[in-house]
Amino acid sequence: MSYVETAGRIAREAGRMIHSRMDTDFSTEQKSSVFDVVTEVDKASEQLIRQRLKEAYPEHGFLGEEESFAHAGELEERLEQAKKEPFVWIVDPIDGTNNYVQGIPGFTVSIALACYGELRAGVIYDPCRDEIFWAEKGKGAFRNGSPITVSNAAELAQTVVGTGFPSKAANRQAVMTSLQEIAPQCRSIRSLGSAALHLAYVASGKLGAFWEYGLNAWDVAAGVLIIEEAGGRVTDTLGNPYQLSVKHIVGSNGGVHDALLKPMIPLGL
Ligand code: IPD
Ligand code: CA
Repeated sequence: MSYVETAGRIAREAGRMIHSRMDTDFSTEQKSSVFDVVTEVDKASEQLIRQRLKEAYPEHGFLGEEESFAHAGELEERLEQAKKEPFVWIVDPIDGTNNYVQGIPGFTVSIALACYGELRAGVIYDPCRDEIFWAEKGKGAFRNGSPITVSNAAELAQTVVGTGFPSKAANRQAVMTSLQEIAPQCRSIRSLGSAALHLAYVASGKLGAFWEYGLNAWDVAAGVLIIEEAGGRVTDTLGNPYQLSVKHIVGSNGGVHDALLKPMIPLGL
Protein backbone atom coordinates (compact mmCIF):
# COMPACT_ATOMS: atom_id res chain seq x y z
CA MET A 1 0.00 0.00 0.00
CA SER A 2 1.37 3.46 -0.89
CA TYR A 3 1.73 6.22 1.71
CA VAL A 4 -1.31 8.03 0.39
CA GLU A 5 -3.42 4.86 0.38
CA THR A 6 -2.46 4.15 3.98
CA ALA A 7 -3.23 7.75 4.98
CA GLY A 8 -6.59 7.53 3.19
CA ARG A 9 -7.53 4.32 4.98
CA ILE A 10 -6.61 5.83 8.35
CA ALA A 11 -8.39 9.15 7.63
CA ARG A 12 -11.58 7.24 6.78
CA GLU A 13 -11.36 5.14 9.93
CA ALA A 14 -10.84 8.22 12.13
CA GLY A 15 -13.52 10.16 10.22
CA ARG A 16 -16.10 7.40 10.72
CA MET A 17 -15.34 7.31 14.45
CA ILE A 18 -15.72 11.12 14.72
CA HIS A 19 -18.96 11.07 12.72
CA SER A 20 -20.43 8.30 14.88
CA ARG A 21 -19.86 10.45 17.99
CA MET A 22 -21.30 13.67 16.47
CA ASP A 23 -24.11 15.16 18.59
CA THR A 24 -23.32 12.87 21.54
CA ASP A 25 -22.37 13.97 25.01
CA PHE A 26 -18.59 14.36 24.59
CA SER A 27 -16.55 16.58 26.89
CA THR A 28 -15.06 19.89 25.69
CA GLU A 29 -12.16 21.91 27.10
CA GLN A 30 -10.77 25.35 26.44
CA LYS A 31 -7.25 25.53 24.91
CA SER A 32 -5.44 28.87 24.38
CA SER A 33 -8.59 31.00 24.88
CA VAL A 34 -12.37 30.81 25.14
CA PHE A 35 -12.42 30.86 21.29
CA ASP A 36 -10.18 27.80 21.04
CA VAL A 37 -11.67 24.48 22.15
CA VAL A 38 -10.87 20.79 21.99
CA THR A 39 -13.13 17.80 22.59
CA GLU A 40 -12.37 14.31 23.85
CA VAL A 41 -13.16 13.16 20.29
CA ASP A 42 -10.32 15.32 18.85
CA LYS A 43 -7.97 13.57 21.28
CA ALA A 44 -9.35 10.11 20.54
CA SER A 45 -9.02 10.75 16.80
CA GLU A 46 -5.41 11.88 17.14
CA GLN A 47 -4.60 8.82 19.26
CA LEU A 48 -6.19 6.49 16.73
CA ILE A 49 -4.34 8.08 13.79
CA ARG A 50 -1.05 8.07 15.67
CA GLN A 51 -1.48 4.41 16.62
CA ARG A 52 -2.34 3.34 13.05
CA LEU A 53 0.61 5.27 11.59
CA LYS A 54 2.91 3.73 14.16
CA GLU A 55 1.69 0.25 13.24
CA ALA A 56 2.28 0.96 9.53
CA TYR A 57 5.52 2.97 9.82
CA PRO A 58 7.16 2.50 13.24
CA GLU A 59 10.18 4.62 12.26
CA HIS A 60 8.29 7.70 11.04
CA GLY A 61 7.90 10.97 12.98
CA PHE A 62 4.54 12.39 14.04
CA LEU A 63 3.26 15.95 14.57
CA GLY A 64 -0.37 16.17 15.72
CA GLU A 65 -2.38 19.25 16.64
CA GLU A 66 -3.41 18.14 20.12
CA GLU A 67 -0.04 16.72 21.12
CA SER A 68 1.61 19.92 19.82
CA PHE A 69 -0.70 22.05 21.92
CA ALA A 70 0.66 20.32 25.02
CA HIS A 71 4.18 21.37 23.86
CA ALA A 72 3.15 24.72 22.33
CA GLY A 73 6.47 26.48 23.05
CA GLU A 74 8.36 23.85 21.03
CA LEU A 75 6.43 24.04 17.75
CA GLU A 76 8.91 26.20 15.83
CA GLU A 77 11.75 23.90 16.85
CA ARG A 78 9.72 20.82 15.95
CA LEU A 79 9.04 22.21 12.46
CA GLU A 80 12.74 23.02 12.00
CA GLN A 81 13.55 19.47 13.10
CA ALA A 82 11.02 18.09 10.60
CA LYS A 83 13.13 19.54 7.76
CA LYS A 84 15.91 17.13 8.75
CA GLU A 85 13.71 14.04 9.05
CA PRO A 86 12.98 11.64 6.18
CA PHE A 87 9.32 11.06 7.18
CA VAL A 88 7.04 13.16 9.41
CA TRP A 89 3.28 12.77 9.44
CA ILE A 90 1.42 16.04 10.11
CA VAL A 91 -2.07 15.45 11.45
CA ASP A 92 -5.16 17.50 12.26
CA PRO A 93 -7.48 14.96 13.95
CA ILE A 94 -10.55 17.21 13.55
CA ASP A 95 -10.17 20.38 11.51
CA GLY A 96 -13.30 22.40 12.20
CA THR A 97 -13.70 21.60 15.89
CA ASN A 98 -16.09 24.54 16.35
CA ASN A 99 -18.43 23.07 13.73
CA TYR A 100 -18.14 19.68 15.42
CA VAL A 101 -18.99 21.10 18.85
CA GLN A 102 -22.01 22.93 17.44
CA GLY A 103 -23.22 19.87 15.47
CA ILE A 104 -22.66 21.64 12.13
CA PRO A 105 -21.36 19.52 9.21
CA GLY A 106 -18.03 20.78 7.86
CA PHE A 107 -15.15 19.16 9.68
CA THR A 108 -12.36 17.05 8.30
CA VAL A 109 -9.45 14.78 9.11
CA SER A 110 -6.25 16.06 7.54
CA ILE A 111 -3.12 13.91 7.18
CA ALA A 112 0.06 14.95 5.36
CA LEU A 113 3.47 13.35 4.93
CA ALA A 114 6.56 15.58 4.79
CA CYS A 115 9.96 14.28 3.70
CA TYR A 116 12.83 16.57 4.73
CA GLY A 117 10.26 19.38 4.98
CA GLU A 118 8.83 18.79 1.48
CA LEU A 119 5.22 17.66 1.17
CA ARG A 120 5.00 14.21 -0.37
CA ALA A 121 1.39 13.06 0.29
CA GLY A 122 -1.81 14.64 1.61
CA VAL A 123 -5.32 13.41 2.43
CA ILE A 124 -8.40 15.35 3.59
CA TYR A 125 -11.51 13.38 4.55
CA ASP A 126 -14.94 14.94 5.15
CA PRO A 127 -16.96 12.24 6.97
CA CYS A 128 -20.32 14.07 6.71
CA ARG A 129 -20.19 13.93 2.91
CA ASP A 130 -18.01 10.81 2.71
CA GLU A 131 -15.76 12.86 0.44
CA ILE A 132 -12.02 12.23 0.31
CA PHE A 133 -9.42 14.43 -1.40
CA TRP A 134 -5.83 13.32 -1.86
CA ALA A 135 -2.61 13.97 -3.69
CA GLU A 136 0.85 12.54 -4.01
CA LYS A 137 3.76 14.70 -5.14
CA GLY A 138 3.97 14.61 -8.94
CA LYS A 139 0.92 12.34 -9.37
CA GLY A 140 -2.03 14.76 -9.51
CA ALA A 141 -4.94 15.37 -7.14
CA PHE A 142 -8.13 13.35 -6.70
CA ARG A 143 -11.59 13.49 -5.14
CA ASN A 144 -13.25 10.13 -4.46
CA GLY A 145 -11.07 8.52 -7.14
CA SER A 146 -11.56 11.12 -9.91
CA PRO A 147 -8.90 13.65 -10.92
CA ILE A 148 -9.55 17.24 -9.86
CA THR A 149 -8.25 20.59 -11.09
CA VAL A 150 -8.55 24.15 -9.85
CA SER A 151 -10.97 26.55 -11.57
CA ASN A 152 -9.80 28.59 -14.55
CA ALA A 153 -11.19 31.93 -13.32
CA ALA A 154 -8.90 34.86 -14.07
CA GLU A 155 -10.67 37.48 -11.99
CA LEU A 156 -11.92 37.57 -8.41
CA ALA A 157 -15.34 38.62 -9.71
CA GLN A 158 -15.70 35.12 -11.20
CA THR A 159 -14.93 33.34 -7.94
CA VAL A 160 -16.29 32.46 -4.53
CA VAL A 161 -13.50 32.95 -1.98
CA GLY A 162 -13.13 31.22 1.39
CA THR A 163 -11.71 32.52 4.64
CA GLY A 164 -11.78 31.69 8.36
CA PHE A 165 -11.98 33.49 11.67
CA PRO A 166 -8.96 32.50 13.75
CA SER A 167 -9.05 32.34 17.55
CA LYS A 168 -6.22 34.85 18.18
CA ALA A 169 -7.39 38.49 18.15
CA ALA A 170 -4.62 39.93 15.93
CA ASN A 171 -5.13 37.21 13.31
CA ARG A 172 -8.90 37.67 13.34
CA GLN A 173 -8.49 41.42 12.93
CA ALA A 174 -6.18 40.86 9.95
CA VAL A 175 -8.83 38.64 8.33
CA MET A 176 -11.50 41.28 8.89
CA THR A 177 -9.36 44.12 7.52
CA SER A 178 -8.48 42.17 4.38
CA LEU A 179 -12.08 40.93 4.07
CA GLN A 180 -13.25 44.53 3.71
CA GLU A 181 -11.08 44.86 0.60
CA ILE A 182 -11.76 41.41 -0.86
CA ALA A 183 -15.50 40.98 -0.29
CA PRO A 184 -16.59 43.73 -2.70
CA GLN A 185 -14.35 42.26 -5.45
CA CYS A 186 -15.48 38.62 -5.54
CA ARG A 187 -18.75 36.88 -6.34
CA SER A 188 -19.20 35.83 -2.74
CA ILE A 189 -17.40 34.83 0.45
CA ARG A 190 -17.70 31.56 2.38
CA SER A 191 -16.45 30.69 5.83
CA LEU A 192 -17.05 26.95 6.14
CA GLY A 193 -15.20 26.43 9.44
CA SER A 194 -12.41 24.10 8.32
CA ALA A 195 -9.26 25.44 6.66
CA ALA A 196 -8.55 21.98 5.24
CA LEU A 197 -12.02 21.82 3.66
CA HIS A 198 -11.53 25.28 2.12
CA LEU A 199 -8.22 24.17 0.59
CA ALA A 200 -9.78 20.95 -0.75
CA TYR A 201 -12.53 23.06 -2.33
CA VAL A 202 -9.97 25.37 -3.97
CA ALA A 203 -8.24 22.27 -5.37
CA SER A 204 -11.49 20.93 -6.80
CA GLY A 205 -12.57 24.27 -8.32
CA LYS A 206 -15.50 24.90 -5.98
CA LEU A 207 -13.73 27.93 -4.47
CA GLY A 208 -11.43 30.18 -6.49
CA ALA A 209 -9.23 30.96 -3.51
CA PHE A 210 -8.82 30.88 0.27
CA TRP A 211 -6.86 32.99 2.71
CA GLU A 212 -6.45 33.06 6.47
CA TYR A 213 -4.06 34.32 9.12
CA GLY A 214 -2.68 32.28 12.01
CA LEU A 215 -3.03 28.71 10.78
CA ASN A 216 -0.67 25.85 11.55
CA ALA A 217 0.98 23.12 9.50
CA TRP A 218 -1.63 20.53 10.58
CA ASP A 219 -4.50 22.74 9.28
CA VAL A 220 -3.00 23.23 5.82
CA ALA A 221 -0.17 20.83 4.89
CA ALA A 222 -2.38 18.24 3.15
CA GLY A 223 -4.43 20.96 1.43
CA VAL A 224 -1.31 22.74 0.16
CA LEU A 225 -0.12 19.65 -1.72
CA ILE A 226 -3.62 18.86 -3.01
CA ILE A 227 -3.95 22.41 -4.43
CA GLU A 228 -0.49 22.32 -6.01
CA GLU A 229 -1.16 18.92 -7.58
CA ALA A 230 -4.51 20.23 -8.86
CA GLY A 231 -2.68 23.02 -10.71
CA GLY A 232 -3.10 25.84 -8.17
CA ARG A 233 -0.75 28.01 -6.16
CA VAL A 234 -0.07 28.39 -2.43
CA THR A 235 2.08 31.08 -0.80
CA ASP A 236 2.22 32.99 2.44
CA THR A 237 0.27 36.26 2.48
CA LEU A 238 3.39 38.11 1.27
CA GLY A 239 3.70 35.87 -1.78
CA ASN A 240 6.62 33.74 -0.52
CA PRO A 241 6.62 30.00 -1.31
CA TYR A 242 4.85 27.75 1.21
CA GLN A 243 6.93 26.03 3.86
CA LEU A 244 5.79 24.14 6.96
CA SER A 245 6.19 27.16 9.28
CA VAL A 246 3.83 29.40 7.23
CA LYS A 247 0.88 30.66 9.31
CA HIS A 248 -0.65 33.37 7.10
CA ILE A 249 -1.67 31.65 3.89
CA VAL A 250 -3.18 32.24 0.45
CA GLY A 251 -4.20 29.26 -1.72
CA SER A 252 -5.77 29.77 -5.12
CA ASN A 253 -6.34 28.57 -8.64
CA GLY A 254 -3.28 30.63 -9.65
CA GLY A 255 -5.28 32.98 -11.88
CA VAL A 256 -6.58 35.16 -9.02
CA HIS A 257 -3.58 34.74 -6.71
CA ASP A 258 -1.93 38.13 -7.27
CA ALA A 259 -5.27 39.95 -6.95
CA LEU A 260 -5.77 38.28 -3.57
CA LEU A 261 -2.24 39.05 -2.37
CA LYS A 262 -2.67 42.82 -2.92
CA PRO A 263 -4.96 43.55 0.05
CA MET A 264 -3.09 41.25 2.46
CA ILE A 265 -1.91 42.78 5.73
CA PRO A 266 1.76 42.33 6.69
CA LEU A 267 1.59 40.58 10.05
CA GLY A 268 4.26 39.05 12.31
CA LEU A 269 3.95 35.53 13.69
C1 IPD B 1 -9.55 25.78 12.85
C2 IPD B 1 -10.24 25.67 11.52
C3 IPD B 1 -10.93 26.97 11.17
C4 IPD B 1 -9.97 28.13 11.18
C5 IPD B 1 -9.25 28.20 12.51
C6 IPD B 1 -8.54 26.88 12.79
P1 IPD B 1 -9.41 23.60 14.38
O1 IPD B 1 -8.88 24.57 13.17
O2 IPD B 1 -9.34 25.33 10.49
O3 IPD B 1 -11.48 26.92 9.87
O4 IPD B 1 -10.66 29.32 10.93
O5 IPD B 1 -8.30 29.26 12.42
O6 IPD B 1 -7.90 26.97 14.05
O7 IPD B 1 -9.12 24.31 15.66
O8 IPD B 1 -10.86 23.38 14.17
O9 IPD B 1 -8.60 22.35 14.21
CA1 CA C 1 -7.19 22.57 12.71
